[in-house]
Amino acid sequence: MKSRYGWRQNVDLTNDNTLRLPVNAQWFSAPTTLPALRRCVRDVHAKDTIYVLGGGSNVLLPEQLDGLVIHPALNQWWLEAQGDEVLVHVGAGVNWHTLVMALVDKALWGIENLALIPGDCGAAPVQNIGAYGVELADVLHAVQVMYLDGSIDWLTNDDCAFGYRDSIFKNALQGQVIITRLILRLKRHAEPILDYGDLSKRVGDNPSSAEVAHAVCQVRQEKLPAPAELANAGSFFKNPLVSAKQAEVLLSSYPTLPHFAQPDGKFKLAAGWLIDQCGLKGARFGAFGVHERQALVLVHFGGGDRATLLDVADHVAATVKARFGVMLEIEPRIL
Ligand code: EPU
Repeated sequence: MKSRYGWRQNVDLTNDNTLRLPVNAQWFSAPTTLPALRRCVRDVHAKDTIYVLGGGSNVLLPEQLDGLVIHPALNQWWLEAQGDEVLVHVGAGVNWHTLVMALVDKALWGIENLALIPGDCGAAPVQNIGAYGVELADVLHAVQVMYLDGSIDWLTNDDCAFGYRDSIFKNALQGQVIITRLILRLKRHAEPILDYGDLSKRVGDNPSSAEVAHAVCQVRQEKLPAPAELANAGSFFKNPLVSAKQAEVLLSSYPTLPHFAQPDGKFKLAAGWLIDQCGLKGARFGAFGVHERQALVLVHFGGGDRATLLDVADHVAATVKARFGVMLEIEPRIL
């Protein structure tokens, strides 16, 4: 294995993406400090492309990545007290779930509903991770980024232009910056959010944030396959947003269709329900399949590649479109 600037060459990343798609990186580096990351981006030749890889839990990687794959291994985090609130400074390389559990152990509130979401903290703002009525945007104070010339900048929550599974990092800043640190604003006093599903039934009166996090882990473990046991990237499609008119027409034919009113007047539909109603839950297509307990998750049984997975996704989306007239959009990033 040759190295350039301490980078490793021809690195197999098959076990570094939770879909376990076969991937070879031409160059790979995992800098552990900001100066090392800066050296890395400055050493990249104009012809080299940079790919940033966090926990690999929300990406569809191609078989060959020509260029430099950077895994920011910035693993420090610390707390800064601010009255009844606490600012959590966290490096991009910290595992998200480990952070959540460490913070609920300190009796802090704000991210307990986001327990067990796979991936690293640096990836969390990109898709504005969310579950059980909470989104990262609700607690994010600021994001530190490094531009590809090595300069550092900070973005406020507003600058991030967060939306449902969306942010500036998927749009104007895509490919322009590497997220290096987050600052979260958490609370010391109890603010449980238990209205999603049967979460409230799973905890006692006046639960601690740790109790809520454990209940969330339970729900997720019942429905979602653990990537270590069955390769997957969580929800494979976004829940589609439709106009009030389209929702009304659909509901007249399908009164049980789960639908959620949005502030802009649109309705969010449950993509898992739509796929399920098409009879695709548990369906197998060679190396891939629709998960048997949550139709929104595509799983990889082994031996498949990205092109085949995208064909399966096209088939699922086309089946839903033909039956309901609703277009599904892929949720993980296609690198
Ligand atoms: N449903 C079905 N059949 C299925 C799956 C779902 O009928 O196979 C129905 C459920 O019964 C429920 C509704 O659809 O009425 C919604 O299902 P669920 O509560 O499981 O949530 P979801 O909308 O499918 C979203 C997120 C998840 C997140 C959960 C909980 C997206 C794309 N997905 O799923 O996020 O954990 O809500 O908040 O927004 C992820 O992003 O990877 C992810 C897992």
